[in-house]
Amino acid sequence: MNPYAIRTHDLSKEYNGEAILKKINLQLERGRIHAIIGPSGVGKSVLLRLLNLLEEPTSGEIHFDGRALKENDRLELQRRMTLVFQKPVLFNTSVYENVAYGLKVRKENRRSILEKVRKALEVVDLKNYEHKRARNLSGGEKQRVAIAQAMVLEPEILFLDEPTSDLDPRNVAIIEELIKYINEEFKITVVIATHNMFQAKRLAHEATFLFGGRIIESGKAQEIFTKPKDRRVLRFIEGKMIF
Ligand SMILES: Nc1ncnc2c1ncn2[C@@H]1O[C@H](COP(=O)(O)OP(=O)(O)OP(=O)(O)O)[C@@H](O)[C@H]1O
Ligand SMILES: [Mg+2]
Repeated sequence: MNPYAIRTHDLSKEYNGEAILKKINLQLERGRIHAIIGPSGVGKSVLLRLLNLLEEPTSGEIHFDGRALKENDRLELQRRMTLVFQKPVLFNTSVYENVAYGLKVRKENRRSILEKVRKALEVVDLKNYEHKRARNLSGGEKQRVAIAQAMVLEPEILFLDEPTSDLDPRNVAIIEELIKYINEEFKITVVIATHNMFQAKRLAHEATFLFGGRIIESGKAQEIFTKPKDRRVLRFIEGKMIF
């Protein structure tokens, strides 16, 4: 099996003629937690949407399992990945219905939906929340419902866009533990966009720093965080540049 779940080749994205991402060459090894780090507006969310095939790049290619994306494979690939959005929107129904939604769209049978939803709620530690109204939950609980919505689809790759940006430290810790658990227990490749260096340090096996639309450093998180090669990454790590 190809060791890379995803590789990009000179991936670029423009909006209205303005280059946002410029020739991104990214290598995402299977089974790891990858952090995409960069200041606000650098294009982290755009990059996740491109990788998740929700948007088309202006130029460049994405390879999955070592093969260039073919139009015929798009739907199947999309089913193997899920993205938890930066601001997840929950339906005004029960937690159960929120988590079951994706499986209903996939037309799974009731029995299998019931089993999978229960399993997903157990993973995020919301076992007795099935009948609660999703919109009445706390911020941390809502984020866990959003992760359950993704997990119920049994993805190979889980994209998380700033999953803790609106949470207090206790809930940040809960979500981070959950992300580690998901990666270790289910061997899911995790790609997390964050501007929080400490979070990246706590979670990531590999890290990619974006700046000015380009990758300025990418590789093993431990090496980058202890011995960055790029001065801007060093300044960021030293806390002299705030993202
Ligand atoms: N659909 C779009 N149309 C036009 N411009 C867009 C679109 N989506 C994103 N952009 C622009 O692309 C740039 C990158 O946006 P993106 O949301 O990826 O940043 P980000 O790194 O995720 O920032 P943050 O940390 O604040 O979430 C921004 O300048 C944004 O305005
Ligand atoms: Mg974003």
